[in-house]
Amino acid sequence: VIDNVCFAVCDPGSEVLIPAPYYPAFDNDLRVKSSVVPVPVHHGSASGLRKAFHSSAGGPGPGKREALESVLPSNEDLDRAFANCSNPRILLLTNPHNPLGVVLPSDEVKRCIKWALQKGLHVISDEIYANSVHGGDDADGGGEIGQGFRSAIAMMPELSRLLGSDLIEERLHTIFGFSKDLCASGLRVGCLHSKNTRLLTAIDNIGYFCGVSGHTGYLMAQTLQDASFVKKFLAKNQANLRKSYQTLTKHLREAEIDYLPADAGMFCWIDMQRYLKDKTFAGEMELWTGLARDAKVLFTPGRDCHAREPGFFRICFAWMPEEALKLAVDRVKHYIDKL
Ligand SMILES: Cc1ncc(COP(=O)(O)O)c(C=O)c1O
Repeated sequence: VIDNVCFAVCDPGSEVLIPAPYYPAFDNDLRVKSSVVPVPVHHGSASGLRKAFHSSAGGPGPGKREALESVLPSNEDLDRAFANCSNPRILLLTNPHNPLGVVLPSDEVKRCIKWALQKGLHVISDEIYANSVHGGDDADGGGEIGQGFRSAIAMMPELSRLLGSDLIEERLHTIFGFSKDLCASGLRVGCLHSKNTRLLTAIDNIGYFCGVSGHTGYLMAQTLQDASFVKKFLAKNQANLRKSYQTLTKHLREAEIDYLPADAGMFCWIDMQRYLKDKTFAGEMELWTGLARDAKVLFTPGRDCHAREPGFFRICFAWMPEEALKLAVDRVKHYIDKL
């Protein structure tokens, strides 16, 4: 879906601004067919988000909510990135966030949408984890579907009052997919919410080349019409994610590995900076290679997510058995203790 929207909206070589760190596959998704250039945009300061980490030295980070205001780049950070582009077309937001595993504060999301629309950009809000808010570390979450999370679609009326409905309807697009919340990545079904009729017509046309089969369409229709099944499935999925998250973070705390408290998705972002021999991305790769080769634990290196600094890794915990999560952390601990 992202590829099709980029293909329809951009020219080859157009830039898409993406708050970093971001989902590593965006690079390929954007470049391979549409020849669009992803531009990572960092928050100007690393220290804000760092306050939110659960640290082995200082316990839970104070003021997680305030610290999350340092996830998305400031308007000044966005201005700087924008000024370096030759043909910027889109701001791509991911909420709930991958790789950080957090629900973004809605005021911050709104600020970024407003900034982008005033610059004449389109905005894509990637909400593929919308129903995977597990609330593992956040009293707002608690496993109720969608709690603590606000879709860009729900923000449309207030954004329309601020900026005018024409602009919002033409430029704000929300995407969703069934790969995560319904654990159905093999079916390859995603969807687009947009009120831009020209975009929808274009997507209707190019969508022919990547349409879902009749069988899959039928299966999805049957599944989604069964509202009570969907509700139960999502609640069970959230409960399983929460349980895995809580098990994983219990072991991380015991191993004195610092992590960003998460409340959505299947990720935990950890800080291994102090285990780098060399505080560079080459040093990060050395640690990553050792963990994969010797500890047999595969993390996503922060470098692949365009992290601002070396030494951060994404753990994907999904529906792992509790013993596997413990074993993974034990192996990591054993490896880092020998460094
Ligand atoms: C933020 C985000 N967007 C999009 C995707 C693509 O999902 P899929 O290609 O499985 O539908 C993923 C998958 O990990 C993701 O994390």
